[in-house]
Amino acid sequence: MKPIRVAIFASGTGSNAMALINKAKELPNSSLNIEFVLSDKLNAPVLEKAKTAGVRTYLIEKKQTREIHEVEILNVLREHHIDWILLAGYMRLISASFLNQLSKWHGHQSQVVNIHPSLLPEYPGKDSIARAHADKAEKTGVTIHLVDEGMDTGKILLQEELSLNPSHSLESWAEEIHRLEHKMYTGFLQDLASKKYKTIHFQETY
Ligand code: GRF
Repeated sequence: MKPIRVAIFASGTGSNAMALINKAKELPNSSLNIEFVLSDKLNAPVLEKAKTAGVRTYLIEKKQTREIHEVEILNVLREHHIDWILLAGYMRLISASFLNQLSKWHGHQSQVVNIHPSLLPEYPGKDSIARAHADKAEKTGVTIHLVDEGMDTGKILLQEELSLNPSHSLESWAEEIHRLEHKMYTGFLQDLASKKYKTIHFQETY
């Protein structure tokens, strides 16, 4: 059977990326491969971590327009016949034309996913954990969703709640939320590998 080919996009620390990489190593042989980690940030720690774990990395910085940047990324995705893209702290919006190209390669099914540390549609965008903590939000949590061109607005696939003590520190909130992220994202990877979600394999149509 054809393995599912996954690319991870990340701009920062990479704790989610590394949780996914480690999980992929436990999956049955040839069900799913993480082909590479791509970052748009020169000094993103995720690059070094992924390399150390034996995963190929790409650094593709945005030097000119968003369109040129995205074409460079699409070329790498095409070269590797990527089926799914998992965003893991990728700090950049993705354009509708980029998503359209991918959907043509994937039989018009959306196969780009993001993880976000809040109960979307609450607290989209940056610093979600800090904002929820400052508001002493009664409930917080984590969302896994399909990616559209908006800011954390795509169709929600999975959501889990957490009730955190408002008197606890921001650091302890962040720690608990990240722990839940890693559990949910690795669970999602496992579900991809075991075909709980349908994969339409990359097929070049142009
Ligand atoms: C995570 O909280 C993720 O949900 C958000 O960005 C953060 C990335 O953290 N999109 P890390 O780089 O995976 O540690």
